[in-house]
Amino acid sequence: MAFPEGFLWGGATAANQYEGGWNEGGKGPSGADMMTNGTHTMPRQITRTWEDGLFYPNHKASDFYHRHAEDIALMGEMGFKVFRMSINWTRIFPTGTEEEPNEEGLAFYDRVFDELRSQGIEPLVTISHYELPFALTEKYNGWASRELIDLYVRYCETIFTRYKDKVKYWLTFNEINCGTLPLGNFMGLGILNEGTCDFANQVDDPQLRYQALHHMFVASARAVQLGHSINPAFKIGCMIAFMTNYPYSCNPKDVIACQEKNDEANYYCGDVQVRGAYPHFAQSIWKKYGVELQMMDGDLEELKRGTVDFYSFSYYMSNAVATGSDVEESAGNLLGGAKNPYLKASDWGWQIDPDGLRYTLKELYGRYQVPLMVVENGLGAFDAVDEDGAIHDQYRIDYLRDHIAAMEQAIEDGVDLMGYTMWGCIDLVSASTGEMGKRYGFVYVDADDYSQGTFDRSRKDSFYWYKKVIASNGEDLD
Ligand code: BG6
Repeated sequence: MAFPEGFLWGGATAANQYEGGWNEGGKGPSGADMMTNGTHTMPRQITRTWEDGLFYPNHKASDFYHRHAEDIALMGEMGFKVFRMSINWTRIFPTGTEEEPNEEGLAFYDRVFDELRSQGIEPLVTISHYELPFALTEKYNGWASRELIDLYVRYCETIFTRYKDKVKYWLTFNEINCGTLPLGNFMGLGILNEGTCDFANQVDDPQLRYQALHHMFVASARAVQLGHSINPAFKIGCMIAFMTNYPYSCNPKDVIACQEKNDEANYYCGDVQVRGAYPHFAQSIWKKYGVELQMMDGDLEELKRGTVDFYSFSYYMSNAVATGSDVEESAGNLLGGAKNPYLKASDWGWQIDPDGLRYTLKELYGRYQVPLMVVENGLGAFDAVDEDGAIHDQYRIDYLRDHIAAMEQAIEDGVDLMGYTMWGCIDLVSASTGEMGKRYGFVYVDADDYSQGTFDRSRKDSFYWYKKVIASNGEDLD
């Protein structure tokens, strides 16, 4: 049997895309609450106030805030061993700067963790998943300011202390490396430069972005040390959006361009968080963008002391890197690239590549030699409900089966893989487009792109399939 005993099978969500209840229970607005709906051809707008005539899909999201008991029961029915979720920072500190946390927010997550425990499900908590208090964007331009380190650490101390006996697995920042891309300014770093109006075309200043990343690295390192001091049994990981790239051809120019893209977008952040030091190629990245990083005494030592216990990542697709201009382009999770003639793509243009997951797992384990976890993977697709209310999502089963088989091969190749949480296990709002119609779930949520619907939950065919996969510990993939 390839999958080890105790393998953590489950699903993943993020509060801002799933929870809703955006202004209930004392919660303050987060960055995600300021983003309108969009499509893959019409970018989401970012507004500093809520404008009439615009729609903000994260406000209600999938309404987990009111339906957590029902949803967790469905996860229990599938046999989940783990549920990846995030804590909405603004439920705990509505503007990020309060001295005292919001008790109503803390109590909500107590209920969620207790329900998970009663179903035998281990929570895996992302501390910050694209939901920075919007007040911190307004006051400090997000992580561009060093002030955020202490505010984040206070938030961590509050939740580590409160949930020390309820949560063991933590991730400090979701997809921290989206901060290496201009697209990551607002969602990842909380930076909203003057002139930015939409998600796809943000006014970018690499100096601010790389400085913000430095602050996040220091904050993450402090959180890891603090967490271990509060409960030595905590396992605290990093989370990287892994954007697997292949050279488009064997032209050495393509190979070098691909290596450089990987260094910058994929390895820069993980190297700091796992190895505790900036990689050798950091200097050339800073030089390329004219970045002069400001560090304080002790920062580099802090990074060394606060390395993570495991490496987690999202994997959806792969891209190719070409230096020539005569290649077709392809879309992607955060980053596009050249179209790979050997791969098919989803309706959103993301190229489907299970072999790429095996390749990525081997690359990562070879590089870091720490336990790995795939904490996001899945297929965003349009689902149709037939007259009997059934949802036959064989395309999703096919996608997942091939990716699980790829993990199995990687384990046989010697990779230490802790678990797998399929993204958007219950339908939720897409991060990049704000659509509900881009569905990932095993469970269908009856709501459209404008939060119209009953929000009733129904089991898709993939629900029953995944239940068998978990029950057989990955043996039965038919
Ligand atoms: C990851 C994010 O980038 O991809 C999630 O961590 C996101 O928040 C997921 O939802 C899928 O992307 P999208 O744009 O299809 O929602």
